[in-house]
Amino acid sequence: MEGEVFYPSTEVVSQAVLKDWEKTAAYALGDLSGFWAKEAGELEWFQPCEQVLDDSNKPFFKWFVGGKVNITHNAVDRHLKTYRKNKLALIWESEDGKCDRSFSYYALNREVCRMANIIKAMGIVRGDRVTIYMGRVPEIVFAMLACAKIGAIHSVVFGGFSVDALQGRIADSQSKLIITCDGSLQNGKLVELKRIVDDSLRHCPTVENVVVVKRSGHEVPMEAMRDHWYHDLCALPIANGKCATEVMDAEDPLFILYTSGSTGTPKAIMHTHGGYMVGTYSTLKYVFDITDEDRFWCTADPGWITGHSYIVYGPLLNGATVFIFEGGPSYPYPNRWWQLIERYGISIFYTAPTAIRGLMRFGDAWPNKHDLSSLRLLGSVGEPINPEAWKWFYHVIGRGKCPIMDTWWQTETGAFMITPTPVVPLKPGSGTRPFFGQVAEIVDEAGNPVEVGAEGFLVLTRPWPAMMRTLYGDDERYVKSYWSKYPGKYMTGDSARCDKDGYYWIIGRVDDVIKVSGHRLGTAEVESALITHPAVAESAAIGLPHEVKGQAIFCYVQLNPGFDPHEDLSEELRQHVSQHLGPIARPEEIRFIDKLPKTRSGKIMRRVLKARAQGLPEGDLSTLEE
Ligand code: WT7
Repeated sequence: MEGEVFYPSTEVVSQAVLKDWEKTAAYALGDLSGFWAKEAGELEWFQPCEQVLDDSNKPFFKWFVGGKVNITHNAVDRHLKTYRKNKLALIWESEDGKCDRSFSYYALNREVCRMANIIKAMGIVRGDRVTIYMGRVPEIVFAMLACAKIGAIHSVVFGGFSVDALQGRIADSQSKLIITCDGSLQNGKLVELKRIVDDSLRHCPTVENVVVVKRSGHEVPMEAMRDHWYHDLCALPIANGKCATEVMDAEDPLFILYTSGSTGTPKAIMHTHGGYMVGTYSTLKYVFDITDEDRFWCTADPGWITGHSYIVYGPLLNGATVFIFEGGPSYPYPNRWWQLIERYGISIFYTAPTAIRGLMRFGDAWPNKHDLSSLRLLGSVGEPINPEAWKWFYHVIGRGKCPIMDTWWQTETGAFMITPTPVVPLKPGSGTRPFFGQVAEIVDEAGNPVEVGAEGFLVLTRPWPAMMRTLYGDDERYVKSYWSKYPGKYMTGDSARCDKDGYYWIIGRVDDVIKVSGHRLGTAEVESALITHPAVAESAAIGLPHEVKGQAIFCYVQLNPGFDPHEDLSEELRQHVSQHLGPIARPEEIRFIDKLPKTRSGKIMRRVLKARAQGLPEGDLSTLEE
């Protein structure tokens, strides 16, 4: 498997913005601050920084200290002074294909300014949190950029999450404003976003206003004084198309994004204006080789980090043309995506292994019906890509001429960490080597490097600009979760191997995080949704291998007295999780169990359950309680 290498063609190399990978890698390793200072210099600063990296208070690293900047200034405002003013920034198509909208950088600025003025009129000031809970519509992009423009901190919650998840995230962030849609369309079905917001707000006293973008057009209750239609606000004089961009400190928070950890409540990952801006700009430029001729499509949702960094910020910082599609890969037919690539002339296509595996099952005839010759680069993210799916993507979609950028990174890292660039020889299933300036190590339990080729824990040893700065409001948990097991090294939570060529092979999470179709979920979240059902005494969620989804959620449930295990109850519990946490978290299977295996200290032994579910040996049971 590791023997097979795909070399870039001379055409790819001659077109690449960066031709000499080795030279740049060596330079960045030798002069980390120099490399990043140069990258930062390609963007506009209201005031240049005094110090590139301040590592005097590890692990609270600071980047571009003293610099004054605003990410929206660089993603939107600065392009208006150039030929890009009339260039397309955003192209959008609705799920049913009946509607498309596009925005030049000029129009994007106007929409962002209107949204920003409305947000300000809702009483939001610098540093306030705003929760954004929407479908994939252009307004989600305007809302994020508008918050950044006025210095408010956005907290986007994925539209596939439901009441419990949304409520927890609103409450934790203490948002005063929610921006949502009446509903969104997914596979022809209506997701009632506004109703879910209403349910969540019963226990969120901090929220003063809800702005509702009309998308689905179905009837929704509007609470007087609290709820406002976006189109009504847009008709008011306050919503004019001009709004000043706030001057921010490089280290000021830009957004928080909740992500699942191994235990407890989701973690509020915090990113900043300066470092995150430079990191997403630079990684996208080198890895996806963006030029003004490109049309870039990242199929993720803006509600996850992939969408934040590579639908919204990275591409716009590079002045690129971004395509956003409202729907999913195979509705109404499995050629939907291929049709869109052809229709819009997409040249760079970035998606997830789960989608590739899903579409691969429908056969080659669907993509072969379409002219995909506009493609020049492909990308993969979210979970390890199996070589079979890699090769299908490469040969059938890329027609053997588009290198695949397998990008390993995390919500916490903000930007690509282990990734090739187009000139790097590829091995299917490996993200190749660390990005410029980064060093990755594979270590054992005690933190010692393992032998070449052996499996171990993946850690990163160098700081990077787009790194999270802390968990919002919880510095202690930040240190404990990421920096305490191996002092001085960032613990990724993944296991991996590194081969003799220095190529990294990610194996998967070593904590209780489950990656379902690339979506990150915590066992704790699934279990807390289950426990709110009267039948459930206790439960344990585990992730098991799944052919298309990568991993699927499997739950062991111990019932309360008076409840009998049967198929209807199992279906009811799956439905319950879906309603509370979100359809993405719906368990694949529920198994009833008399007693969950626990250690003597009361911890559920998920390892034992995992082995049992797969019919594998259960291993050392000496710590099992009587
Ligand atoms: C986890 C982070 C930021 C990317 C979207 C997911 C897994 C991510 C890859 C890849 C193998 C990958 C890891 C990581 N992962 N990309 N290319 N190859 N595994 O971000 O939701 O924060 O999840 O996704 O396990 O730790 P996330």
